[in-house]
Amino acid sequence: MPYSNKILDHYNNPRNVGSFDASDPNVGTGLVGAPECGDVMKLQIKVNPQTGIIEDARFKTFGCGSAIASSSLATEWLKGKTLEEAMAIKNTQIVEELALPPVKVHCSVLAEDAIKAAIRNYMDKQKNQNIANNGHD
Ligand code: FES
Ligand code: FES
Repeated sequence: MPYSNKILDHYNNPRNVGSFDASDPNVGTGLVGAPECGDVMKLQIKVNPQTGIIEDARFKTFGCGSAIASSSLATEWLKGKTLEEAMAIKNTQIVEELALPPVKVHCSVLAEDAIKAAIRNYMDKQKNQNIANNGHD
């Protein structure tokens, strides 16, 4: 199957591979799996609590080259975005940027799901923190 240069570039030189401490209150962690193939993607964001901007992102993907490339690209796109902007990232944008073949579209869906899961996890943490902080009156 012919892969685009961009897929190969991200596959051979993945950006932002690794992990943040998931217990850090400024970190959101998304862990998702693709039912199509069983591949698993972990994606994390680190949010600046003052600005609400995503200042860093990491991923670890146990899966195919397109999933690795999709998550690598996603971490690049996430940096400097607000949570709202990050929520708006669509798998179709990843498909377009990497020129993913049709059988690999679900790999980009995995990346979109992982982004959303990471943001939700971060927001849940903030909520729980606020509840803890306002727990007594
Ligand atoms: Fe084997 Fe994705 S199906 S790595
Ligand atoms: Fe399943 Fe890529 S994530 S083949």
